[in-house]
Amino acid sequence: MSALLDVASLDAGYAGLGIVSDVSLEVGAGELVAVLGPNGAGKSTLLRAISGIEATRTGGSVRFEGRDIGGMRADRIAKLGLVHVPEGRQLFTELTVDDNIRLGAFGRPRAFVERALGEAYERFPQLEARRTSTAFALSGGEQQMLAIARALASEPKLLMLDEPSTGLAPRIVAAIFETIADLRKRGTSVLLVEQNAYLTLRVADRAYVLEHGRIVLSGPATELANDARVRAIYLGGSSEE
Ligand SMILES: Nc1ncnc2c1ncn2[C@@H]1O[C@H](COP(=O)(O)OP(=O)(O)OP(=O)(O)O)[C@@H](O)[C@H]1O
Ligand SMILES: [Mg+2]
Repeated sequence: MSALLDVASLDAGYAGLGIVSDVSLEVGAGELVAVLGPNGAGKSTLLRAISGIEATRTGGSVRFEGRDIGGMRADRIAKLGLVHVPEGRQLFTELTVDDNIRLGAFGRPRAFVERALGEAYERFPQLEARRTSTAFALSGGEQQMLAIARALASEPKLLMLDEPSTGLAPRIVAAIFETIADLRKRGTSVLLVEQNAYLTLRVADRAYVLEHGRIVLSGPATELANDARVRAIYLGGSSEE
């Protein structure tokens, strides 16, 4: 069985500055895979190198559905169904909620776009109530929902989420994680970068720990949640249950 996403010995960074070294990682069809790690570990750089946005690959390979996408342009990678929701959401803040979602389905037939809108509002009723507001006017949590809704509007095969819960109130964080768990239940493959190790290890199938640009640990989420080192560094000791 070949993985949906297969990253092998990837080296990547920015204009001669190496950040990610020798990273190998897989996401199988229907899997929810997480990448944990401290600030500055290179998690966002890793996602950027995979989706072809900003960071460049200097070694190793990136395969998506068996196809070599290392060095492919970002828009072509997105068209293949590998969609990246970057850190900080990157919405079109002057456009309405409706138009942001429509842009996610850009270039598709009208019926597809309408269906995508309907599904987005079914998933996030809170957004439907704000459909004519600009994205700028939304709360942080609503903006994150919109970023996810826009990405889903293209019907991605693999969704890469970079810290979707950062900066949000606990209640909203819980809602975002519920959404992520629901995506997995419906069979969407997800590569999730998160700081919230506790909730992440509860929803993920497997996880990798990235430190200083290298994978230092990986395994089933339940195993990592019980790993002494993970508990000490990422779960704040053993008292988090
Ligand atoms: N556009 C860029 N150009 C040059 N260096 C960058 C760029 N973006 C990030 N870096 C550097 O790459 C390293 C890894 O950053 P990255 O954003 O990938 O880490 P991260 O694990 O996502 O951290 P965080 O948890 O804070 O989001 C850092 O030293 C950072 O300064
Ligand atoms: Mg980051």
